[in-house]
Order: sequence, then C-alpha cells, then structure tokens
Amino acid sequence: MKNILVTGGAGFIGSAFARSMTRRYPDYNIIVYDKLTYAGNLDNLLPISDDENYRFEQGDIADRAALRRALEAHHIDTIVNFAAESHVDRSILSADAFIHTDVVGVYILLDEGRQHGLERFLHVSTDEVYGDVDEGYSVETDVFAPNSPYAASKAGGELMVRSYHVTHGMNTVISRGSNTFGPYQYPEKLLPFFITEALEDHPLPVYGDGMQIRDWLYVEDHVSGIDAVLHKGVSGEAYNIAGEDLHHNIDVTHRLLALLGKDDSLIRHVPDREGHDRRYAMNCDKLRALGWQRQYSFDSALEATVDWYRDNEWWWRKIKTGEYLEFYKRQYGARLAAAE
Ligand code: NAD
Ligand code: DAU
Repeated sequence: MKNILVTGGAGFIGSAFARSMTRRYPDYNIIVYDKLTYAGNLDNLLPISDDENYRFEQGDIADRAALRRALEAHHIDTIVNFAAESHVDRSILSADAFIHTDVVGVYILLDEGRQHGLERFLHVSTDEVYGDVDEGYSVETDVFAPNSPYAASKAGGELMVRSYHVTHGMNTVISRGSNTFGPYQYPEKLLPFFITEALEDHPLPVYGDGMQIRDWLYVEDHVSGIDAVLHKGVSGEAYNIAGEDLHHNIDVTHRLLALLGKDDSLIRHVPDREGHDRRYAMNCDKLRALGWQRQYSFDSALEATVDWYRDNEWWWRKIKTGEYLEFYKRQYGARLAAAE
C-alpha cells in the first residue's frame, strides 16, 4: 500500500482521515479525489495543504474517464471511498444525487478499480443499513433493513462491493460507522447545526418527541477504526465502528445548550422526519479483535466539539449562505412555523 485515493476526502470524515493519514504515514501518498459538492470544502484540508505527500484532484466518482485518469496519473494501489451524499433529510427531499453517487458511483469505482488492478478497496458505510434496532446491538451478519432513501442507497453500494469481492475476487473491506461528530462537520447534521444555531440564538428544531437514540462516535475514533480495517481487516468482511455511547436526541440537545450557556427555551419540537428510525446501536467486538479501541468519551468529545465551533466561526459562517439558506428554508420553514 503506497498511493491511496481518498474519494470524498474534502468532506467531514474523509478530510479527518486525510489529515490523519498524511501525518501518520509519511511514506504513503494521499490523493484526495472529490467532486466538491455543497458538502465538499477545501478549507477542511488546509492543515495539510503544504504537505509533500498530499495532493488534491477535483472529480466525480461516477465519471469513468476522469477517475481512470486519476488512477493512472497517481499509480493508485488503494481506494478508500468516503464519497457520498450523506444527509438523510436531503434524501427525503430528492434521492437523485444519492443514487448517482452512493450506488452508481460506487459501481464505477469498483469497476474502474478492478480494471486498474487495485490492491485494496475500503468502502465506508453506515449503521443505517441495519435500519431501526428496537433493542440489542447490530452485528455484522444482521440482515439489511434500510428505511430512508439515503440508507437504501448506502445498502445498494455495499451490495455492489460484496458482488465485486465474490464474483471478481476483489480485495475489499467495508466499515459501518455510527453517528459521527467533531470539527469540520457540515452544519446540516444535528450537532454542528444545533451548536451554530444556538450560538446565534436561533430556535433548535427537535424532530418529534426527541426520544430517538443515536450511537455517538467522535470523528478521530471513526478515523482510527477505518485505519484498523484498512490495514488489518479480512478481505470480503465488514466491520462495525461505533462509540457504543447511546443518547436520546433531546438529552444531547440539553447538554450542548448547557455547554454553550444557553437557555432550553431555544428548543422547538417540530413535526417528525418521515420514516425516522428510533434507535441505532452496534456491537464492535469484531473491530476490537483487530486491536482498535475508542479513545474519546462522549462528554469530553462533545465539549471539544462545542469549543471548536465557538472558536472557528470563520469556517461555518461562510457555509451558512446561498444554497445552505435555501435548504434551511425547504427543510425547516414550514416545520418551525407549525411549532410556533
Ligand atoms: P460529507 O457529506 O461531509 O462529505 C461527502 C464528500 O463526498 C464531500 O466532500 C463531497 O464533495 C464528496 N462527494 C459527493 N459526491 C461525490 C461524487 N459523486 N464524487 C466525488 N466526491 C463526491 O460526508 P461525511 O459525513 O464525511 O461521510 C463520509 C462517508 O461516511 C459517507 O460515505 C457516509 O455515508 C459515511 N458515514 C457518515 C457518518 C456520519 O455520521 N457523518 C456515519 C457513518 C458513515
Ligand atoms: O448513523 C450514521 C448516520 O448518521 C450517517 O450514515 C449519516 O451520514 C449521518 O447524517 C447520520 O444520520 P442521522 O440521520 O442519524 O443524523 P442527523 O444529524 O441528520 O440526525 C441525528 C438525529 O437528530 C436524528 O434522530 C434526527 C435528529 N434531528 C436532526 C436534525 C438535523 C433533529 O431532531 N433535528 C434536526 O434538525
């Protein structure tokens, strides 16, 4: 493993992975390949922009010709695929881009990667493929039961990876991460959205009763899990990566308001997300057997995350303009009006 194409590496988790790998493995060349959609942001890669073993290429994973050029130009032997449409609410508004990237794009990555003679393909997936988990913890052999168009598109991508392993003998591994948070996360996801809104004393739209449960994972722990799967995972296998730290959305909201010194009166219970999964929870024994363990507690990581957004307004203020405001209006306009 030497020349790694990090697809989707200008997004939240992909950029954390690129920043970490560039410094941790100076012998590797890290080439970020990203379409720069609304969620892709070169500011996320500024800390490594001058590193000799880092390069950036703009491109779409579903564009065969551009992808082939990048694979050849950089003598790529490994792909780590983060590229995705990643926000559930946007997939409810329209699933087109999700099918393009999370299904067709994954197929083209696999197909071009195979023809190019790739040594290793790691596909980054999600706990949402398991669907709602009423009780207990998902293990890697559980059946898929995706409920949102986003989750279904991720399940479709995973099945293509499986088929290229079984049919073509490709060396593939899959990671399934839980709800991830930390610096540089696009402020449409619960934590960065609520933190930055609360900083401006805007209302916080909690979907339904707020008693949904998510399994929270700090981004650095997600990255170290992917590193372990990349280097030690068995070809053809999938590995769960979770914080195993379950919290109700409403409790998380109260905690971050307390950390910000803001009042609970900012909370608005708005009409629920359609098809909303109540609970995700995963078992990580299989990943622990590779030597991984979580380094950050939810409490300390939440505090560090709140501090980061408080200290880095330059990063999120320029995002919260243009397309972002259009999305905000479509997603929250009627919901917040109904809550008044
Ligand atoms: P993100 O939305 O922050 O970033 C996605 C990146 O992919 C962006 O830089 C975007 O420009 C790029 N991209 C989108 N379409 C592309 C295309 N066709 N070609 C090339 N690049 C494209 O997402 P994230 O939160 O960092 O998630 C990364 C991966 O991890 C995704 O596959 C997601 O499904 C998965 N995941 C996310 C979480 C989470 O909580 N955020 C948890 C588990 C798994
Ligand atoms: O579980 C892993 C998944 O986590 C990833 O695969 C996805 O890419 C990522 O977006 C995330 O999906 P969720 O839908 O769980 O994350 P989100 O931040 O959108 O929402 C977290 C919870 O908070 C969920 O129960 C919905 C709720 N929520 C979210 C928003 C944006 C609200 O109550 N209000 C909101 O405004």
